[in-house]
Amino acid sequence: MNAMKIENLVRDYGGGKGVFDVSFHVDQGEAFGFLGPNGAGKTTTIRHLMGFLKPKSGSCTINGLDCWRERDKVQARLGYIPGEISFFEGISGAEFLKFIAQYRGIGSQTRKEDLLERFELDPKSKIKKMSKGMKQKLGIVAAFMHDPDILILDEPTSGLDPLMQNRFIDLVAEEKKQGKTILMSSHMFEEVERTCDRIGIIRTGRMVAVDAAAALRERHTRSYTVTLENESAAEAFAADFNGVRDGLKVTVTTKQSLEEIFMNYYGGEKHDEHGAV
Ligand SMILES: Nc1ncnc2c1ncn2[C@@H]1O[C@H](COP(=O)(O)OP(=O)(O)OP(=O)(O)O)[C@@H](O)[C@H]1O
Ligand SMILES: [Mg+2]
Repeated sequence: MNAMKIENLVRDYGGGKGVFDVSFHVDQGEAFGFLGPNGAGKTTTIRHLMGFLKPKSGSCTINGLDCWRERDKVQARLGYIPGEISFFEGISGAEFLKFIAQYRGIGSQTRKEDLLERFELDPKSKIKKMSKGMKQKLGIVAAFMHDPDILILDEPTSGLDPLMQNRFIDLVAEEKKQGKTILMSSHMFEEVERTCDRIGIIRTGRMVAVDAAAALRERHTRSYTVTLENESAAEAFAADFNGVRDGLKVTVTTKQSLEEIFMNYYGGEKHDEHGAV
């Protein structure tokens, strides 16, 4: 069953900006990675799913509910991390979490303490005094503490250090095991490759690929034949790279990393060694 469905979504900001005829779905219990560079249309698509924006044409549904017309119902069930987190700066993190809990109408947030501990966040300080990473952690706690079945996460790891990024990936993997439905946007190949079943790639407002992560890799299997200088070198090379030897020739089959696949679709250059675009 489709838990989330985006059909022919259009929002035209002019000058070629916006989202154009975007369609994809996320099945119940599935983790979907939404990849694309800055300005590609990830947040715009997600804001439609959250019912913050009315589609110019096309539609978004979550569990069969129209995300615009039935946004109150839709939002009540979700866990959401916005792309740009803005809080009421004057209050403390703890007060913010209390406010969110009251807004949701749930008295006790069973997972709050566990999440605060996991991300090593002390919520007592005023939000305006918090670092970027602390604010991001606060957003994570607020999104997960009521144990929602559907999670919409817009660049959830931005601002987190590598240790905390890993803790977040672990959290997402646990949620997935429990059957949660997850949409997660990212610039980072590694984190979606590690956590998501399927991946959609958006570029300048258009989907350029939607497929299983494994299928995306499979389709880009490459083989290279290398001629070595002598038999023993050929044998060693074949052993090292799991290749097939034919005399001095060794054929090695490799699967491109998702990052390489991604860059193929883009035709661009790798920007840094961490795989950010
Ligand atoms: N309210 C708006 N008015 C005009 N243009 C907008 C508006 N919101 C977004 N855009 C433009 O639409 C495009 C898509 O923006 P969006 O925020 O969806 O990108 P994104 O994929 O989330 O990027 P990032 O990775 O930087 O967060 C961008 O070119 C952006 O400048
Ligand atoms: Mg964004």
